[in-house]
Amino acid sequence: MSATAEMLGHATAVLALDRSRALDARAATLMPDGIGAYSQHRAPHPLYLTRAEGARLYDVDGNGYVDFMLGAGPAILGHRHPAVLEAVQTALMSGLPNIAVTETQIELAALVTKLVPGMERVRFVPTGTEAVQAVIKLARRATGRKLIAKFEGAYHGQAENVCVSVAVPASARGPIASPNRVPYHCALPDELAALTLVLPFNDLEATRALIEKHANDLALVLVEPMLGFAGAIPAEHEFLRGLREVTARHGVLLAFDEVITGFRVALGGGQAHYGVTPDLTVLGKAVGGGMPLSAFGGRADLMDWLSAEHHPDDYVFQSGTFSAFPMSLAAGLATLRLLEATRALPDMLALGERARAGLRRIVAELGIAADVTGLGSLFHLHFTGEKVRSGREAQDADHARSCALHEALLAHGMYFYVGRLGFLSAAHTAADIDAMLAATRSVLAET
Ligand SMILES: Cc1ncc(COP(=O)(O)O)c(C=O)c1O
Repeated sequence: MSATAEMLGHATAVLALDRSRALDARAATLMPDGIGAYSQHRAPHPLYLTRAEGARLYDVDGNGYVDFMLGAGPAILGHRHPAVLEAVQTALMSGLPNIAVTETQIELAALVTKLVPGMERVRFVPTGTEAVQAVIKLARRATGRKLIAKFEGAYHGQAENVCVSVAVPASARGPIASPNRVPYHCALPDELAALTLVLPFNDLEATRALIEKHANDLALVLVEPMLGFAGAIPAEHEFLRGLREVTARHGVLLAFDEVITGFRVALGGGQAHYGVTPDLTVLGKAVGGGMPLSAFGGRADLMDWLSAEHHPDDYVFQSGTFSAFPMSLAAGLATLRLLEATRALPDMLALGERARAGLRRIVAELGIAADVTGLGSLFHLHFTGEKVRSGREAQDADHARSCALHEALLAHGMYFYVGRLGFLSAAHTAADIDAMLAATRSVLAET
């Protein structure tokens, strides 16, 4: 049993999860797979949680965990951070409804545009899915072109036009220089799929050739500076620089999807980390500090297409009942102010490095073939003898072993997004990382 498991009250390395299991049985009669959304999916069943505090989660069976999932990323300051709680409570008690315009919105827009290099103007929406779609709409209007491009292995939300080649069975992939368009768990009509070009991540030569081939039709290239759900796989500097060059040369707009990397790899996100400025940017997760908030923005001349005043006859319609929700804006502002004013982010980056270095040491000492990836406060362990540079290579690793590791870590008091990347918050400590590393070593040594 690890020190943390002891600290959190785990009597043994075998967890009692009886109440969670019973609730799951009831839920299964009400919702597909017993869950409100696939993001809650967890084998063999989800844990029913009662509360969260800092970097800790507590479940209905009385177990406590160190949280390395953080709701898939938003809670960058940790759970129940006092500054965020106070901001949300104030917004709640003000009674203001959605669509109310507040000064908080101006303050958050000012901070986002100050921190993120490519965002001269910004708009707010509830989810990353909506922000990605707004950027696609905008790019089509601004360029008059129809085709969009995304990278194999990248996730850009729930809409059909980007649920293409998120994860692809080896038999369906096609050549690396021209990956197939493969629907991701949806019945994507061919007509829609034909409008989404798939590019090979971290392969500049092939990407350049595909962009040049389709340049006359291509409105937008969407890229994650680090593939998130594919397993924290960073873009290579030369690749992003080359992508910026070829898109600019052909009048193709370049959008960074920084839903995961925003405020997590640097205050200015992946674009600050790499020193490459896109035309458009999508933010999500951390920008709302745990509340539903995403944002998109970019060059002022492009964002002007959203202006009904500048383009009365042909502006791009971007709206939403819960867009720019007052409580979400308040949580986002409190979060970003704190990140800007304190050492929270540099400390988190150091913990991320500690986690990655520790994992590398453990697999080397145990003689396990593995590649540790990630950037900033994000990390992942791929079981493979190869260096992982793309979603394809991540899939060729032993994903089942990553899932088994995360499932086994639960009994040591470590809560991971099973098979996915690990997230850190400002509430994690070096002791949390060391406990996670000790638990990982003990699981890997036994399996
Ligand atoms: C890179 C990336 N883009 C877009 C999205 C979609 O965001 P949301 O789940 O808020 O719709 C996600 C979600 O995880 C993501 O990781």
